Amino acid sequence: MRVGVVKEIKPDEYRVALTPAGARELKASGHDVLVEAGAGAGSMFPDADYETVGAQLTSAVDVWETADLLLKVKEPVESEYGLLREGQVLFTYLHLAADEPLTRALIDSGTTAIAYETVETDDRQLPLLAPMSEVAGRLAAQAGAYFLEKPLGGRGLLLGGVAGVAPGKVVVLGGGMVGYNAAVIALGLGAHVRILDRSVNRLRELEQILSGRVELVMSSSLEVEKSVLEADVVIGAVLIPGARAPKLVTAEMIRGMKEGAVVADVSIDQGGCFETSRATTHSDPVYVVDGVTHYCVSNMPGAVPITSTIALTNVTLPYVETIADLGVREAVAGDRALARGVNVMDGKLTYEAVGEAHGLDSTPLEELLPLEPV
Ligand SMILES: NC(=O)c1ccc[n+]([C@@H]2O[C@H](COP(=O)([O-])OP(=O)(O)OC[C@H]3O[C@@H](n4cnc5c(N)ncnc54)[C@H](O)[C@@H]3O)[C@@H](O)[C@H]2O)c1
Repeated sequence: MRVGVVKEIKPDEYRVALTPAGARELKASGHDVLVEAGAGAGSMFPDADYETVGAQLTSAVDVWETADLLLKVKEPVESEYGLLREGQVLFTYLHLAADEPLTRALIDSGTTAIAYETVETDDRQLPLLAPMSEVAGRLAAQAGAYFLEKPLGGRGLLLGGVAGVAPGKVVVLGGGMVGYNAAVIALGLGAHVRILDRSVNRLRELEQILSGRVELVMSSSLEVEKSVLEADVVIGAVLIPGARAPKLVTAEMIRGMKEGAVVADVSIDQGGCFETSRATTHSDPVYVVDGVTHYCVSNMPGAVPITSTIALTNVTLPYVETIADLGVREAVAGDRALARGVNVMDGKLTYEAVGEAHGLDSTPLEELLPLEPV
């Protein structure tokens, strides 16, 4: 198979979808690897490192036109829609429930698109989202602490306090991978931390792991409201897989928050869980609504590309190898987790929640190809 990698052109995105180590593994299995010149530069992988392991350096258009399997990190941006085509498999983060134009572009192009974030194991783990969620959660706590500083428009509060001065209060909405990692860093900074989740099983797990160091609360609109009004930092980290994030925090709750508090909406890539959220970039990461600083960067891990690229490719490579070795149909047919990642197959929308989000018809994947029994 011809496996292609293009440079990410979304603003402030420095990750790359394949490391030289990954390229070497694919070459060793007999595949061709095409890499757009300069694709790895943002993650400190120079072209020479790819050439040394046998990858071919070429232009973006050549990769799009000739690769059987195209690897990216973020969803195609509008200028790339015209390059999508039938007969190619696109493997990347897509977040289609929050992006109707891209959903339609994928369908119209006739391509097959597998979303990293919806690859889901039978025990409901999201193995290709997890490492980026670890990074984003940790960064969210750092961002919260940073933007509380007075010169940056914050309350002027040191999150950890000092001896004799109370620490700041961090509220984490959603105690999954992002929420847990945000809580760990906030705890490390010395903050008082409360996590709200709507899964009692998840709350039990967190109770075991964090053993009394955080407050764990069942999520309800009343508890969310009470917590948000007391908080110095609120981190939005909820997820309903494949669907738009629920708006847990209303504009009215934001109006009632402390002056100079910070909200970090990590769920912004699924539309955000604060009513007042809109996506921002690393070059202009925050804006203020009713005195509350909003940090809503949709590609947070892009800020730390060395860590993120390696963490991401560690988990994507086994799936890339399976698709390259078996072809997409056989790979998907034999692996339920990968099958759940398929959002569009040969131009047909197969992911129900995306169809529901945009009022589009979807076709169950098993109607298009035989899947292994669950
Ligand atoms: N902005 C970024 O750069 C970035 C990076 C990585 C992940 N993310 C996003 O962060 C979000 C969280 O990802 P994750 O990996 O932690 O997901 P996860 O599935 O591990 O955790 C989500 C948690 O939200 C909880 N939840 C769902 N509805 C809830 C509600 N109403 N109230 C409280 N809790 C609720 C679930 O029970 C679950 O524990 C996702 O939208 C993901 O796409 C964003």
